Amino acid sequence: MKNWKTLYSDDNEQSDKEYENLHDANSNLYDNKNNSLYGASYDGLYNEEKVCPKCRGVGFIVKRDEKYQDIITPCSCSLKDNVKSKWKRAGLNVDNSKLNFKNYKVFNQLTRYCRNKALAYVKSFKEIRNRRQNSIAFLGQVGSGKTHLSIAIAMNLMELGVRAYYMPYRDVITKIKQNMLDDEAYKKSMGKYKTSELLIIDDLFKGKVTESDINIVFEIINHRYLNNYPMVISSEYTMEKLLDLDEAVGSRIFEMCRGNVVEIEGKENNYRLKER
Ligand SMILES: Nc1ncnc2c1ncn2[C@@H]1O[C@H](COP(=O)(O)OP(=O)(O)OP(=O)(O)O)[C@@H](O)[C@H]1O
Ligand SMILES: [Mg+2]
Ligand SMILES: [Zn+2]
Repeated sequence: MKNWKTLYSDDNEQSDKEYENLHDANSNLYDNKNNSLYGASYDGLYNEEKVCPKCRGVGFIVKRDEKYQDIITPCSCSLKDNVKSKWKRAGLNVDNSKLNFKNYKVFNQLTRYCRNKALAYVKSFKEIRNRRQNSIAFLGQVGSGKTHLSIAIAMNLMELGVRAYYMPYRDVITKIKQNMLDDEAYKKSMGKYKTSELLIIDDLFKGKVTESDINIVFEIINHRYLNNYPMVISSEYTMEKLLDLDEAVGSRIFEMCRGNVVEIEGKENNYRLKER
């Protein structure tokens, strides 16, 4: 058993100062007062049938200025559709939109550390994305904000033009296994996880892990490892447990996330159990 903690020293800690000017790249999308996105309610995003009353569904509004010139402006609903389809393409749903940096509360040293690590990752992404060490992992304690920060990273990088893809591990692995006997379908279902510009693997190895689960994960991670395709990983497994479970998978994750392994331990860090 390797003592992975001695394999890297975490000299990446930066002062809060550096982060003061960093916000969600997409923070301008949120209008907190009425919980809306570009002025359209979140509920509206799900409602495909409803025709926008402002533009009657055409996506733009024509106004006449004082010189009787027509001015065409995009309606808020078409901007909303862009954001919606971008999320949809990334495998995210609208509920995830609340998982941004703004809504992540820093209330102790650990949360500050986690937030700063996530922000630093966003900040450095363009520079490190093609390197071997281009990924980040949030590991350990249930309910400690691992998914929250992973999605905040994804949304911010998407705003910067990165094509991210969200992989909720358990659902996805179940679906992939259903396709296993059909070679064509299997290849197709694996493709986006192997090749997306940025892959967010959420809750890796959640539940009972079988040999075939490990094989599928290995196929995805090894492909990304060989091509230096970055990943954001969240898992209840610590790095040590990942290495114990499967050294081939664990050591690749370790190498790609070197310097960016954020481990959270202790029940007191379960935000779901916190008094608020
Ligand atoms: N520091 C925080 N500030 C605000 N909300 C938080 C914070 N940490 C966690 N939360 C919220 O608590 C809930 C649990 O967080 P999250 O799902 O990210 O945890 P997790 O570590 O991924 O848990 P699990 O291991 O069960 O997947 C979410 O609603 C999240 O938005
Ligand atoms: Mg989670
Ligand atoms: Zn409209």
